Amino acid sequence: MFSIVALGCAMMTPSSLDSTGLRALADKRHLNFGTCAFSDGVKADIDGGKYRQGILDNFNMIEPENDLKPPAMWQGLGKIDFTKSDYLIDWARSNKLKVRGHVLVYASDWGYTIPRWLLDKEKDITPEQAKQILHDYITAVVGRYKGKIAMWDVVNEAIEDGPNSRPFNLRDSFWYRKLGTDFLVYAFQFAHEADPKCKLYYNDYSVEIGGTKTENLFKMVDFLKSKNAPITGIGFQFHRWAVEVPKPGDKFYETLQQIADRKLTFMMTEMDLSIPIKRLTRTDPDYGLVPASPEDLEQQAKSYEAFMRLGLSFKNCEGIQLWGYTDGHSWIPGSTGGSRGAALLLDKDYKPKLAYESVRKVLAGR
Ligand code: XIL
Repeated sequence: MFSIVALGCAMMTPSSLDSTGLRALADKRHLNFGTCAFSDGVKADIDGGKYRQGILDNFNMIEPENDLKPPAMWQGLGKIDFTKSDYLIDWARSNKLKVRGHVLVYASDWGYTIPRWLLDKEKDITPEQAKQILHDYITAVVGRYKGKIAMWDVVNEAIEDGPNSRPFNLRDSFWYRKLGTDFLVYAFQFAHEADPKCKLYYNDYSVEIGGTKTENLFKMVDFLKSKNAPITGIGFQFHRWAVEVPKPGDKFYETLQQIADRKLTFMMTEMDLSIPIKRLTRTDPDYGLVPASPEDLEQQAKSYEAFMRLGLSFKNCEGIQLWGYTDGHSWIPGSTGGSRGAALLLDKDYKPKLAYESVRKVLAGR
C-alpha cells in the first residue's frame, strides 16, 4: 500500500546518494518519510534558510505541528482561520511534499486540544447541535484541502492513560459528553464524506508497546470497524526514550503484527527518541540541548536504527514520520521540564548527529 513518490533520484549512483539528504533515499524506496513543520518557521525562512532547506533535503512529507489543530484555527461557530495552514500546505505542494493532516478531533479537554470558546458554550449545546457542529467543522476543513491532504489524523489521543469506567477507557471530553462513543464514528464518516479518497487514521501515543492502553486501542478499532467507520489505519506516535532497541518478536513487533492481522495500515507518525539532558535555566541558549552524557548519542543512533527497521519490516507501514528533525525545534524539552531532549536527527545548528547516519544507513538498505 505504499504510495508512489516521484523518483527524483533515478539517475543517481549509490555513491552520489550517500552525499545527499534522506529524501532521495526515501523516494527511491517509495517510502513516505516525513517531519512535522510549522508555518511561521517556513514563512519567515528561519535559521538563515536552514529550516526550510533541511525539510526539502530530507523529507517527502510534512505534517503541520500545530497549525491544523482546532484551537489554532477554529475561532467560533462558522469561523475558521486558514491563513497559516494554507501557507504551509501551498508551500508543501509547490515543493512536491505530501501532506498529513493533524488533527480533526483531539479528544480531550486538556491543553491545546479543543477551543476554549466551545467548552465555554457547552451547557447551551444539545447533542444534536454538537453533531452538527462536528459535521460542519470537519466538512469545512477536510473539504478545503480535498485532494491536497493525503491522510488525516481524524481522532487523536482519545484513550486515557489511567483507568476509568468509560468504554475503551476514553477520556472525558466535550465530544464524549455530548455524543458518547458515536463521536468517533461520526468523525470518520464526516471526514470520508468530505474527501472520499483521503486516508483516515486514529492516532495515539504509548499504544505501540502492548499492555492495557493497546488493548483499549484494539477494542476501539474493533468497535469502529463494527460500525463500518471508514478507518484506514493507526498512527503510532512513537515518542519514546532512546534506551529502547526493538527486536523482532518483542512487544513492538507483536503490536504492529496485530494491526496487520486486522487488515489495517499503520504509520509511525511522531517519532522522537529523547535522551537525558543537563538541566539548564530556560533562558540558557542551550536549554534542552546538552546531553547529560555524550555516550547517549551513540545509544540514540542504535535506537533510531532499530525503530526504523521495526517500521520498515511491515508491508502495511504507510510511512515513517518524525516529530521535527532539528533539536533546535522540538517539543520535548518544553514538555519534560527540561529533563529530556536532543531527540532528533540534526543538532540545533543543523549538523547531522550519529542518529542521522543510522537512519541514512537503514533507508539506503544497509
Ligand atoms: C505538540 C506540539 O509539538 C507542541 O508544539 C504543542 O505545544 C503541543 O503539542 N502528540 C500529538 C501532537 O499528537 O499534536 C503533540 O504536539 C505532541 C504529542
